[in-house]
Amino acid sequence: MTKSKVFLLLSVLFFSVNSFALTPEAIEGKKFYPSCHVCHDPKLDPPLGPPMWGVQRQYKRNTLDEEDFVETMVEFVKAPALEKVIHEEAVKQLGLMPPLPLPDDMLRKIATYILEEQFQPPCEHWSIAVKRALKKGDQEHAKKDQVMLKRFCN
Ligand code: HEC
Repeated sequence: MTKSKVFLLLSVLFFSVNSFALTPEAIEGKKFYPSCHVCHDPKLDPPLGPPMWGVQRQYKRNTLDEEDFVETMVEFVKAPALEKVIHEEAVKQLGLMPPLPLPDDMLRKIATYILEEQFQPPCEHWSIAVKRALKKGDQEHAKKDQVMLKRFCN
């Protein structure tokens, strides 16, 4: 192998390993994340908050860039309001989140962690949701989560 090929291989390897690493800001945020996980834990039955996998997806789709993702999330968490809601389905199912007036820099770190983490699809949450919806006779909601299970959990 030539020197340049070795170099290329090493940089590809470094980049792919490194792309899974969290930034220092996100590592800090991860330490405070349990204060969110108490409600956003996908294994809760009944659920107390939407799994972050879906929150992250919605925020990525509906914000302009990483900075906007973080700022929009911080503003929501400090003072949730119906007109700020991005994850419409969650508020319909669970009601509005209570405000968590933590210091801004702490919330910014938590939001950076939520931006960067590779959350697993919340399969357990969807199974629980299907069971609960069927029990209530809510076929439409059951069907929606069955589709998610099929798409992401097989
Ligand atoms: C007491 C339970 C509870 C705690 C603790 C909690 N959440 Fe939530 N969260 C909810 C519920 C319920 C919703 C869904 C309804 C809504 O969007 O307001 C939600 C929704 C959200 C959303 C989506 C908002 C939108 O635009 O639709 C974000 C972002 C969020 N939470 C972030 C956080 C972060 C960050 C923390 C920790 C600092 C946290 N939550 C802690 C219950 C909680």
